[in-house]
Amino acid sequence: MAWTSFRYSLYAPFYDLLAWPLGAARRRAVTQAGIRPGDHVLIVGCGTGLDLAHIPPSCRVTATDLSVRMLESMRRRARALGRDVTLLRMDAEKLDFPSGSGETGFDVVLLHLVAAVVPDGRACVHEAVRVLKPGGTLSLFDKFRPGSRTRPGLLRRILNIPARFFFSDINRRAEDLIGQEPVTVIRDQPVAFGGIFRALTCIRT
Ligand SMILES: C[S@@+](CC[C@H](N)C(=O)[O-])C[C@H]1O[C@@H](n2cnc3c(N)ncnc32)[C@H](O)[C@@H]1O
Repeated sequence: MAWTSFRYSLYAPFYDLLAWPLGAARRRAVTQAGIRPGDHVLIVGCGTGLDLAHIPPSCRVTATDLSVRMLESMRRRARALGRDVTLLRMDAEKLDFPSGSGETGFDVVLLHLVAAVVPDGRACVHEAVRVLKPGGTLSLFDKFRPGSRTRPGLLRRILNIPARFFFSDINRRAEDLIGQEPVTVIRDQPVAFGGIFRALTCIRT
């Protein structure tokens, strides 16, 4: 945890440049989430806040991250865009919000490029779904291992050692992350790099 927070603080000044090739994919992911004016949107692991520009201005936005420097970057972006965002330092695997119900909870949760970064991707997705209102939308945008094999091949397992240490896990399958969750996947689109990156729109049942 401390390593993740530390390395993302190091990446923060360059993050927008690193994430630039995924700009169109991100826009598609947010668009297909169907955010409506007035929705309460939670951005988990918000990073520098690259999602913010695609969220309708009338939405209430809450954003969390583990890295203080990422949160500072997000604060600067929100100010530059004239947006009022509630920023909280929080672990994506253990969100400090009540479970969503008809009264409380988020209308939309954006989990973009986070579920493969945290140690326990399933816990992270579980928490994102838990805080949604019934009928709320989870946008899961990330790189996922294709295919139905439960165990990745040897080469993938070897490459994953440095990948996990410096960036993120390359062996997570979307199906494994959401398989146990009370959600219906209404869209699953390849959005970048030949389908390595996918954007899933999931509705909490
Ligand atoms: C690859 S960046 C993605 C940032 C942003 N969601 C985006 O789409 O550009 C991963 C982000 O997750 C944050 N992060 C990593 N582990 C976390 C955790 N356990 N809880 C909350 N945020 C975490 C990092 O600090 C970083 O900002």
